[in-house]
Amino acid sequence: MPDLTLEVPQKIRRGRLRWDEQRSVASGVELLKLLASSLGHADLANLRVLDIGCGCKFTQAILDRGLPVGQYVGVDVYGEMIEFLRSSVSDERFEFHHINTHNEMYNPDGEELSDATRLPIAENSFDIICAFSVFTHLAPADYVAMLKMLRRYIKPDGHLFFTVFINEETAGGFGRVDLFKKAMQKAERSQLEKHKDEFVKSQREGIPDFVDAIPEQPLRAAIYSRKHALELMEDTGWHIDSLNDPLMHIQHYMICSPA
Ligand SMILES: C[S@@+](CC[C@H](N)C(=O)[O-])C[C@H]1O[C@@H](n2cnc3c(N)ncnc32)[C@H](O)[C@@H]1O
Repeated sequence: MPDLTLEVPQKIRRGRLRWDEQRSVASGVELLKLLASSLGHADLANLRVLDIGCGCKFTQAILDRGLPVGQYVGVDVYGEMIEFLRSSVSDERFEFHHINTHNEMYNPDGEELSDATRLPIAENSFDIICAFSVFTHLAPADYVAMLKMLRRYIKPDGHLFFTVFINEETAGGFGRVDLFKKAMQKAERSQLEKHKDEFVKSQREGIPDFVDAIPEQPLRAAIYSRKHALELMEDTGWHIDSLNDPLMHIQHYMICSPA
């Protein structure tokens, strides 16, 4: 395989595909296409995109495949990675910012995400705000706080796109819960009894509003009932346009407009 235009050191890569940079970039290309098309755009040319919890996948995909984008602003709690991107990417369409907000999995010593949290960027200035595999690691209070915080930065005719784990099986079978249920079905009954997974317990008791499904790795899998994922949107300043089923490269995803 040829080298990538931007190679990111293994130690600062995150996400499911962090071990396979080429596959990660290919998935980034597919997701960016889906992002544009599901919001009614041919591509991201002339659009200002804010990517919260950006990681490095989209930056690599855009640079490597020459994908069009008006401006791309990446924000993440991972300081070392943001430093790397700032020092390695000279393309003027890109801007990167570090924020120090708390996340039990990714930034346990960070500051509480609250009404007072601000990003170092202009308000009402983005056509698209996206968060891929970020709400999938947010506790309910942060889910709400993040939505309220992001609301400040969207243009009146812009959209928010984010992925979320929803506690339901889906026809396509691509969801995290589809995988969990398959694993549960495969497991011998005796193994299942010993299994400490909160998800297994919660399924026996009916679908809870929220389950931190792998408690020994807090917020590794933050799973919401469909009802709760939708009701948490109330009073955040967003109108829900759609909640969509998982596809090959993506979990459930929500599309919203400013209310
Ligand atoms: C699973 S990775 C996904 C990265 C990227 N969006 C992707 O799809 O490849 C989750 C990212 O969200 C970042 N993150 C977690 N909580 C955050 C928060 N409250 N604000 C900003 N970034 C956050 C993590 O540091 C990490 O880079």
